[in-house]
Amino acid sequence: MSGYQLAEDVSLAGRNTFRVPARAAMMADVSRADALAELFEFASLRDGPVLVLGEGSNLLFAADFPGVAICLTMAGVRITQDDGDTALVRAEAGMNWNDLVSWTLARGLVGLENMALIPGTVGASPIQNIGAYGVEVGEFIETVEAFQRDTGQVKRLAREDCALGYRDSLFKREPERWVVTAMELRLPRRRELRLDYAGVKEELAAMGVDAPRAMHVAEAISRIRTRKLPNPAVLGNAGSFFKNPVVDAALADELKAAHPTLPVFPGPDGQRKLSAAWLIEACGWKGFREGDAGVAQQHALVLVNHGQASGPQLLDLARRVAGSVRERFGVSLEPEPRIIGARFDDTGA
Ligand code: FAD
Ligand code: EPU
Repeated sequence: MSGYQLAEDVSLAGRNTFRVPARAAMMADVSRADALAELFEFASLRDGPVLVLGEGSNLLFAADFPGVAICLTMAGVRITQDDGDTALVRAEAGMNWNDLVSWTLARGLVGLENMALIPGTVGASPIQNIGAYGVEVGEFIETVEAFQRDTGQVKRLAREDCALGYRDSLFKREPERWVVTAMELRLPRRRELRLDYAGVKEELAAMGVDAPRAMHVAEAISRIRTRKLPNPAVLGNAGSFFKNPVVDAALADELKAAHPTLPVFPGPDGQRKLSAAWLIEACGWKGFREGDAGVAQQHALVLVNHGQASGPQLLDLARRVAGSVRERFGVSLEPEPRIIGARFDDTGA
């Protein structure tokens, strides 16, 4: 058993949640981490472009991929240590993220409930340090196991070595270098629930829950998300298309004075995080549609494919959106999904 399978000229249309057409010159399905060393001895992988592909929920294909797309299929999960108060959970990269959330909650382990229903795989979760409703996965990461292309070995990185930030990590900055194969999360049995994000307490109240447990929070978050974000199975999208911009406090104060309804949140190092959705909506884009490329009716931060939009059409729309926000507010928007086959350069708008 080699632990991998190769195929040539593979369609990626069903493997990205924007559901745009694209092809990979080659695809490798990998079922064992220890097969990666052998696989990377092929000249095309050693020297050519490689794309690790999870569920394709944070990618925009602006072109075909000329190299090898790697899909990790190993999806095991187990508790490797348990001291009664906390447990160490090791999950492999190919597992679905929401399945891991449910698996941990079913075992009385808490912490991941606010991140219920985020699409994608466990292996992708540290790439942009996924987060939602006031919690990021990085809070729980003990180690990330990753195949390092330049050494040909699997390395165990402690959380401090992963350079985790808001929608950011070492792996995101060096995408050609790392293949995340597994992750260990330290999860407590007891912890104060995080209910402060706008709308969470109200949803729990609407559910008739007055003494919430983690399971209830996961359900409340799932209900909010289902209402607020378009379902990619129905309408192609990749969640938030832009990160919320982090700006200096002085610029945030100036913008807030001119636009009192602009949501402003604390950011890292005394900076401020602005709501990209608000900025985009203020520029009139919410619900916009041109051909099949559009901006969601429900949420201004989500670009959508109404059916036949291509990657370049969605990219063009994204550039125009960012260009208008820059012109009106002097704020640059940075895309959150990885764009394959093009550079995002909003000055090209
Ligand atoms: P892909 O889209 O397949 O890949 C994303 C990036 O990670 C690519 O650069 C890829 O090369 C890299 N990658 C994937 N797997 C690996 C690996 N094993 N090793 C190395 N690199 C890898 N994100 C949030 O943070 N919070 C949210 O609330 C949220 N909501 C969303 C809602 C919707 C409707 C959608 C469609 C997306 C949302 N996202 C959200 C974005 C997305 O769910 C996450 O980024 C998720 O982690 C992507 O997982 P994936 O398996 O689909 O990764
Ligand atoms: N808003 C608007 N117009 C809209 C939508 C929202 O003005 O059309 C305003 C709302 O008034 C609200 C603010 O924007 O005050 C924030 O909205 P929301 O709570 O929906 O959060 P977000 O900042 O738009 C972020 C993440 C989401 C994550 C949610 C919940 C980023 C880029 N996005 O969205 O993550 O689910 O918070 O934590 O940080 C993703 O990364 O793909 C994603 C969906």
